[in-house]
Amino acid sequence: MKFENPWKQNPWFESVAVAQQRARKRLPKPVYGALVAGSERGQTIADNQAAFAEIGVLPHVAGHQADRSMTRTVLGHEVSLPVLISPTGVQAVHPDGEVAVARAANARGTLMGLSNFASKSVEEVVEACPRTFFQMYWTGDRDVMVQRMERAHKAGAIGLIATLDWSFSMGRDWGSPEIPEKVDLKTMVRMAPKVATKPRWLYQFGRTGQIPDLTAPNLAPPDGGPAPTFFGAYYEWMTTPPPSWEDVAWMRATWGEISGTPFVLKGVSRVDDARRAVDAGVAAISVSNHGGNNLDGTPAAIRLLNPIARAVGDEIEVLMDGGVRRGSDVAKALALGARAVLIGRAYLWGLAANGQAGVENVLDVLRGGLDSALLGLGLSSIDELTPETLLVPEGFHRS
Ligand SMILES: Cc1cc2nc3c(=O)[nH]c(=O)nc-3n(C[C@H](O)[C@H](O)[C@H](O)COP(=O)(O)O)c2cc1C
Repeated sequence: MKFENPWKQNPWFESVAVAQQRARKRLPKPVYGALVAGSERGQTIADNQAAFAEIGVLPHVAGHQADRSMTRTVLGHEVSLPVLISPTGVQAVHPDGEVAVARAANARGTLMGLSNFASKSVEEVVEACPRTFFQMYWTGDRDVMVQRMERAHKAGAIGLIATLDWSFSMGRDWGSPEIPEKVDLKTMVRMAPKVATKPRWLYQFGRTGQIPDLTAPNLAPPDGGPAPTFFGAYYEWMTTPPPSWEDVAWMRATWGEISGTPFVLKGVSRVDDARRAVDAGVAAISVSNHGGNNLDGTPAAIRLLNPIARAVGDEIEVLMDGGVRRGSDVAKALALGARAVLIGRAYLWGLAANGQAGVENVLDVLRGGLDSALLGLGLSSIDELTPETLLVPEGFHRS
């Protein structure tokens, strides 16, 4: 008889918080710290989650609906649940990185957002999930941006996300993790004490024969030259003059000419900016504060959502991201006017905990929670979620 270890941990997790605990255990401290991120005193990152907890619900006791629908069309694509993958650079979390995330998004019937700072190429990621949006910062000159857009289109990206909410705020009160310039032997020896205590993480990378690659392949020059390191890419970004609204309109029009697919502006926190985004011709915006990584003191994205959705929701699609950790958060965001939400850290914790299956697990946790919310509220579809289905405290919204 084969001996089964009765104490073996079930790789499945029941909540995003449990995935985060496992990620914390598994990842080297600097890698975990880079995912937690946040800026300055951490006010915004904390409010992103805390604000969701201020909104209450009042469930019915009977008269529930047996059939409940969570499908929706977002940016012209039907998704099986209104939760999309927000672009993040996930170097060093898992050897399969964004490819594992893309496979999970595809398996669960949703859309993938791929960061221009990602560790995997847009070609590989589109192969894993044909419904991938490519994300770009305003970095490099216009010729370089056109070349990157053309590459993404050629690879099969079905839309472009422009992320402009970044203010190069450097310090955080709890200290920043060390990120090496590149991972060579010298760095490995120096950082060995931080990773030696993380055998599973080491084993995963060791098995693939790879060491975490801190380069940005999607920013490689077209002549076949080497991809820049993460820091090289960051330097280019930092030294690029910031964009004007004319630049946003140019980017939107250029992407339109190259690809003809939707253009999304991510990082909007103000009603006046949302109106300007409409004028610039965007298909959608994401109400977002970059997961608390932009200017600290920006209110939680969920507080900003409803005033913006009321102002421009009839003209463009309004998405939101920041602090989504459970299905009821998704229900709250939809009720306050989001067509869909994007998730960042939630899937990163899942990826760290259990690779592709962990990301699928996170999407399943959110699906289950959203379904419970619909059941309890007596609704048969996400389309019936309105502000009146929630208990929103007075003074909750910010604009
Ligand atoms: C580690 C990390 C890296 C990120 N990298 C990017 C990026 O490259 N491009 C981008 O548009 N947003 C990036 N973001 C922001 C996310 O897309 C998203 O706005 C944010 O994570 C949402 O908040 P949440 O993590 O609470 O879900 C990053 C966020 C994190 C945590």
